[in-house]
Amino acid sequence: MVNLFTTTVGILRRLINLLIALASVLLFAVWLTIRDLYYCIANLFLPRRHVGSVVPFDHPGHGGVWPQFQAPIQATDSRSPCPALNALANHDILPRSGKHISYKQLSHAIQHAYNLAPSFADQLTASAYQLDQGRGWIDLQDLSALNVIQHDASFTRTFLIRISRAGHKFLSHASNGKSLSLDDVVYFSGLRRAECRRTNGQYSMTWSFLHQFFGSGNNALIYSIFGGDVTDLRVWLAEERFPDQWEPKNREARGHTILQAMSTTLIIELNINEWQKLRSENTVSNEAREL
Ligand code: HEM
Repeated sequence: MVNLFTTTVGILRRLINLLIALASVLLFAVWLTIRDLYYCIANLFLPRRHVGSVVPFDHPGHGGVWPQFQAPIQATDSRSPCPALNALANHDILPRSGKHISYKQLSHAIQHAYNLAPSFADQLTASAYQLDQGRGWIDLQDLSALNVIQHDASFTRTFLIRISRAGHKFLSHASNGKSLSLDDVVYFSGLRRAECRRTNGQYSMTWSFLHQFFGSGNNALIYSIFGGDVTDLRVWLAEERFPDQWEPKNREARGHTILQAMSTTLIIELNINEWQKLRSENTVSNEAREL
């Protein structure tokens, strides 16, 4: 029977559930931070990994030798909007089917293939928890849920469109022709956000700081893990394949940490300006000429 007592019990039960959820998120964050600080300090004192041994010898990709690439079977294989995870599945480091992947498997795979600190690998993996409906595993396709962690003004989706339309236009914009500098990444993020605002009536990033930050986080990874190298990125982004002999450019002994990633992300995010002065190749008249 519904009365004041049952209503009060209902309120208390929900409050307790909320407190438990908040406490576990807080504990997880504190635990990650402590571990990450440990890896940051260790990186300060330990020598960087040698070129050729960035991926440990007992893991796929050591010495730039990756397991056989195989493009996914569209009808059956599950793939995500994330090139990093798709490449791992295409090389059989994650299951080729892209299905039934546990968090441990996910964290372990990204940690070694991209030389991430275990704390950072766990943090990235945790972003998928909200999508699994309590199963404890995901299919890569689950990551496509827009605006949970997928966001507007994507760097690579515009890249893919441009690859087919104007032939490698985006990557050819690296100022030195070889690698995207931090300035280039910031510039293109601003350009992309401004384009999205103009062309997409439902553009949703304006008020969504978290999604903007997530987008800059991905761009920071492109910069740190690939050194912005356009030749490697062309293969990785367009084919979701590791280039032959590729290994992460970041060579920290204990892997790239959350603190490092946060710092690069903040530098990118805080410098993005949607109203920036356009480079000559992006002015309206030049864009029209190229199409
Ligand atoms: C388990 C860990 C990871 C999860 C759950 C994850 C998830 C995602 C998702 C959902 C997107 C789509 C964002 C969008 O286009 O709207 C994405 C994009 C991306 N991810 Fe991951 N990712 C993970 C690990 C990584 C790692 C280790 C790297 C770097 C080596 C990486 C690099 C990228 C890049 C460059 C993009 C494209 C960003 C863009 O198009 O703007 N991700 N990721």
